[in-house]
Amino acid sequence: MYHMNFAIIGCGRIAARHAEHIQHNGKLLAVCDIVKEKADQLAAATGTKAYYTVDDLLKQEKNIDVVAVCSPNGLHAEHSIKSLNAGYHVLCEKPMAIDVIDCGEMIKAAERNNRRLFAIKQNRFNPPVAAVKELIEKGTLGKIYSIQLSCFWNRNADYYLNSWKGTKELDGGTLYTQFSHFIDLLYYFFGDVKTVKAFVNNYAHQGMIDFEDSGVAILEFYSKAIGTINYTVNAYQKNMEGSLTIFAENGTVKIGGQYLNELEYQSIKDFVIPDLPVGNKANNYGQYQGSMSNHDKVYENLVDVLKNGSAINTSAFEGLKTVEIIDKIYSAAQFISGK
Ligand SMILES: NC(=O)c1ccc[n+]([C@@H]2O[C@H](COP(=O)([O-])OP(=O)(O)OC[C@H]3O[C@@H](n4cnc5c(N)ncnc54)[C@H](O)[C@@H]3O)[C@@H](O)[C@H]2O)c1
Repeated sequence: MYHMNFAIIGCGRIAARHAEHIQHNGKLLAVCDIVKEKADQLAAATGTKAYYTVDDLLKQEKNIDVVAVCSPNGLHAEHSIKSLNAGYHVLCEKPMAIDVIDCGEMIKAAERNNRRLFAIKQNRFNPPVAAVKELIEKGTLGKIYSIQLSCFWNRNADYYLNSWKGTKELDGGTLYTQFSHFIDLLYYFFGDVKTVKAFVNNYAHQGMIDFEDSGVAILEFYSKAIGTINYTVNAYQKNMEGSLTIFAENGTVKIGGQYLNELEYQSIKDFVIPDLPVGNKANNYGQYQGSMSNHDKVYENLVDVLKNGSAINTSAFEGLKTVEIIDKIYSAAQFISGK
């Protein structure tokens, strides 16, 4: 049976997860990292060829179908566009980019080259998220009135040490690296954001990161729903909560847990969300935990789209929308540092 061939750009923490799922869904041919040891290590572990520049990879490998872009946020646009121009489909890690214009250029490159561009949004596959999405789509909750998104994680000094994380240029901001999956769900559930007011500050990471470690935002959606976001990486010692509460005409629902993985509360007119399947565990990086590990489902959908013409679960347009909402929040935000 025909199997799809993959390459990975960026051989860091998340690349290992990609390599694992690629092996279940196709064949990994090559990996690339500017740090030679990292490329060599992943190549040795997966029995593939190592490259040390993206240009070399794209020039020399001729049988790739899909490039998985796992490099730092600020390089996603460049690496995706180069891969699309080389004729390959692209699966881009989150956030799709850290600039709205870059997202547009990525989408245009995909269209120009008649290739698909997938943006990773794996929280959509969390069982309670899927259940609530269905309620919203079917109109069971009625009109959505207001929402509260809480993102209370911990990222300590070690996390940012000697890393692109925390830099304006390659990371972009706490909403991009830690909480873009959460922002994606706002668009997925409630649609586009019209107006934002926000305050941000760097309380506990002075000299470690170029931007805020905490923020609060008030949102008005085009649907007339209103919402607040309270986010921080200062939860003491460990991740505490990632939750979304929805107040609607016919019900109140709270998706909670550390990473939107549990249905914490439901009170819905004439309806009860039944027991949900247990979801995957969080991505565990040793020192810290990330979002729910749903890359298996991301790859299943990718292969289904490319081989069977199925519908894409996480389109680049929606990737752009996440970046646009984050950009609106940062553009509106008043940095209160020094006050
Ligand atoms: N979906 C998720 O749950 C999830 C989880 C973790 C990370 N991510 C995303 O994945 C991306 C990578 O994160 P990470 O934690 O693996 O970071 P990492 O630092 O562990 O890995 C990034 C790798 O990219 C390499 N790199 C840098 N510049 C490069 C270039 N020009 N060409 C090739 N390689 C280059 C670095 O040397 C490094 O090995 C980020 O965008 C991050 O936001 C997503």
